[in-house]
Amino acid sequence: MTVDDLLAPVLTIDGPSGSGKGTVARAVAHKLGWHFLDSGALYRAVGLAAGWADLDFSDSEALARCAAETQVTFRSGHVGDEPRVLVNAVDVTDELRTETAGAAASAIAAIPAVREALFAKQRAFRVSPGLVADGRDMGTVIFPDARYKVFLTASAEERAARRHKQLSEKGLAVSIDGLLREIRARDARDAERAVAPLRPAREALLLDSTGVSINEVVERVLGLVTAKS
Ligand code: C5P
Repeated sequence: MTVDDLLAPVLTIDGPSGSGKGTVARAVAHKLGWHFLDSGALYRAVGLAAGWADLDFSDSEALARCAAETQVTFRSGHVGDEPRVLVNAVDVTDELRTETAGAAASAIAAIPAVREALFAKQRAFRVSPGLVADGRDMGTVIFPDARYKVFLTASAEERAARRHKQLSEKGLAVSIDGLLREIRARDARDAERAVAPLRPAREALLLDSTGVSINEVVERVLGLVTAKS
């Protein structure tokens, strides 16, 4: 890591699942020509690897070891496309997006030793000319010194409807009520956990994407970067 990397500007976008932060963060990173960290994918990857190893989800020591040892690689394809994600060299891009992987991620993410094991791995994504990092604690814990911070929300109903549309497009039939229940349960778990709970950084720009197009949110976020540069 060079001095340039240590000083590289960071834009953090935190918020609950389904707020659109992943799509917005990727689009903003692309427009700025900056690197991109999908920190949720790291937690999902560890949850998956822990499942493969048949680990006991109450054994925090084994889970922390798994977090330290799991190799996660992001492989970009066409510009603007979602990168492929490899866990220990296996392409798990589709599996990683399932509700099961999300629930496993949320369970292991509540364990302090797991979060600690992922701390340095996340910081290593700060590389010149800049980084857009999306997650739950990017602005509060991982990059508290980030120059730009955004907290993106949307109503639980809208987030469930977006997820329902995504799954329907993939030919998967799920009930919107079930999705809404899952989203609310995961929000509560993420917001109420003792370590790195989901909450906006004090200086974050709060954006509500309910009824707002992704393009509009992207423009607002780019506006923040331009205004503070
Ligand atoms: O963002 P995504 O839905 O992929 O994250 C999956 C889970 O990983 C979240 O529900 C949360 O519990 C956990 N997570 C976290 N901290 C992050 C990113 C994700 O605790 N920075």
